[in-house]
Amino acid sequence: MKIAVFVSGGGTNLQAIIDNIASGYLAGVEISLVVASNGNAYALTRAKDHDIPSTVLSVKDFASRDEWDQTVLDTVKKSGAELIVLAGYLSLLGEKTVKAYSNRIINIHPALIPSFCGAGMYGIKPHKAALARGVKVSGATVHYVNENYDEGPIILQKSVEVLPGDTPEILQQRIMKECEQVILPKAIRLIADGKVTIENNIACVKE
Ligand code: GAR
Repeated sequence: MKIAVFVSGGGTNLQAIIDNIASGYLAGVEISLVVASNGNAYALTRAKDHDIPSTVLSVKDFASRDEWDQTVLDTVKKSGAELIVLAGYLSLLGEKTVKAYSNRIINIHPALIPSFCGAGMYGIKPHKAALARGVKVSGATVHYVNENYDEGPIILQKSVEVLPGDTPEILQQRIMKECEQVILPKAIRLIADGKVTIENNIACVKE
C-alpha cells in the first residue's frame, strides 16, 4: 500500500513510519510522497535522507485556496498513494482532497479526542490546555479526517499518566514517544490489512 505522508514540522511521526517500514512491521507499505506545508519543515530532511520523494505545497504560494487544493489532490493522485497520513500536518486539507480521499485520510492528534482538539489545538497547545485543566491522563488519537478539525471516526487511542512535575514540553515528549509513535504505525498496519471499517461514522477495528 502506497501512502502519502503530510508534515509541517520535526517529522518524528514520519520517522516512526520510516523506521517501522525498515523493521518490517509495516511490510508492504511504501511512502510514495512526503508533502510539507512549508519549506522549513525538518521532516523534509528526514525524507531526503531516506530517498523519499517530497514536495512543498504551501497555500500561500497559490493564487487561491482552491488552486492549492487541486494541486495537492493531483500531486497525491500522481504519487499513487492510496492513503494520506497527516503526521504533524498543521493545515486543514482542502475540500476536494478530503472528498476524493474520503475515508482514506488519517491524522494523529496529540490528545484524547474529544478533549483538547479542534481549530487552534495543535503542537504544544493541547498539552498546555491538558495541564491547565489538571487532567490525570492524556494521550494521542488516530482518526479519519473529514472537513472539520479532529472530528472524523476514531481509529486508535493511547493514554499516558500525567505525572507530578510535568511541563507541557515533558508531557508532549512522553506522548510523542509512548503514544503517537506507537499508534500511528499501528493504524497504518491495520488499514493496510483491511482491518478497519466504518459504520455509522464509527471506526470498527478487528485486530
Ligand atoms: C505531533 O505531536 C502531532 O501529534 C501534532 O504535531 C506534532 C508534530 O510532530 N499534530 C497536531 O497537533 C495536529 N493537530 P512531528 O512533526 O515531530 O511528527
